[in-house]
Amino acid sequence: MSTRELASIRREYGQRPLTRASLQTEPLAQLELWLEEAIVAQANEPTAMLVASVDAQGCPDTRWVLLKNIVEEQLIFYSNYQSRKAEQFAANSHVALNFYWPELSRQVRLRGLVSQVAPELSDHYFAGRPRGSQLSALLSPQSQVVESRQFLEEQYRQLDTQWQDKTIPRPTSWGGYQVQVNEYEFWQGRDNRLHDRFRYTREGQDWSVERLAP
Ligand SMILES: Cc1cc2nc3c(=O)[nH]c(=O)nc-3n(C[C@H](O)[C@H](O)[C@H](O)COP(=O)(O)O)c2cc1C
Repeated sequence: MSTRELASIRREYGQRPLTRASLQTEPLAQLELWLEEAIVAQANEPTAMLVASVDAQGCPDTRWVLLKNIVEEQLIFYSNYQSRKAEQFAANSHVALNFYWPELSRQVRLRGLVSQVAPELSDHYFAGRPRGSQLSALLSPQSQVVESRQFLEEQYRQLDTQWQDKTIPRPTSWGGYQVQVNEYEFWQGRDNRLHDRFRYTREGQDWSVERLAP
C-alpha cells in the first residue's frame, strides 16, 4: 500500500456533542456511563483498554488488556505476575490507560498508579474462569521465549491430564492489577476535527474539569 493511499483514508466523527453540562461530577461515573453506552452499542471489545508502562530505562511499552471490575474506584485487570508488563510495573508504577470505542467516536485517556490486588480478589476471579483459561495460566510465564507452538500445546495437554477432575488453584504468578486513576480525559470525536475534550484532574478531594483544544 502506498503512503498516498494511507493518507487518503479519513472519516468524519459525527456530531454527537460532549458538553460540560452533560458531564458527571465524578469522572469514574462518566467512565462507567460511557462503558455502559459502548456495551449497549455493541462495540467490539468494549472493555478492552490499552495499558502503557515504562521499563527501568524509561522506554515506553503498551499492550491491550480487558477491564474486569471496578472496585473502590480502582480499575482492575488480570495478568501474569512474571510477564514483561509485571517487570515494568515493578520498576515504575506509573501507567496510562486508553479506551477507544470507534463505534461511538469516543476515547478515554487515564493516568495513574498500578499495584497488585489483594490475593483473595485474584483467587475469587480465578475460580470463576473457564477451565481452559485456568490451565493456560499455569503454562510457561507470559512473555518468555518458547521454542514452538507444539511445546505450548504439549505443556497444556500435560496440565490438562494432571488436573483432571481436580480444582485448579490460582498460581501465585497470576493475578489482578488495580489502577488508581488520578487524571481522566474524555474525547468525543466531532466532524471537521473539532472534537470535544474534557480533562478531570484531582483537586484535593474533588475533581477540576477543563475543556481542551482538539
Ligand atoms: C483485546 C485484547 C485483550 C487482552 N486482554 C489481556 C488481559 O486481560 N490480560 C493479559 O494478560 N493479556 C491480555 N491480552 C494480551 C496482551 O495484550 C499481551 O500480549 C500480554 O499480556 C503480554 O504483555 P507483556 O509482554 O507486556 O506482559 C489481550 C490482548 C488483546 C488484543
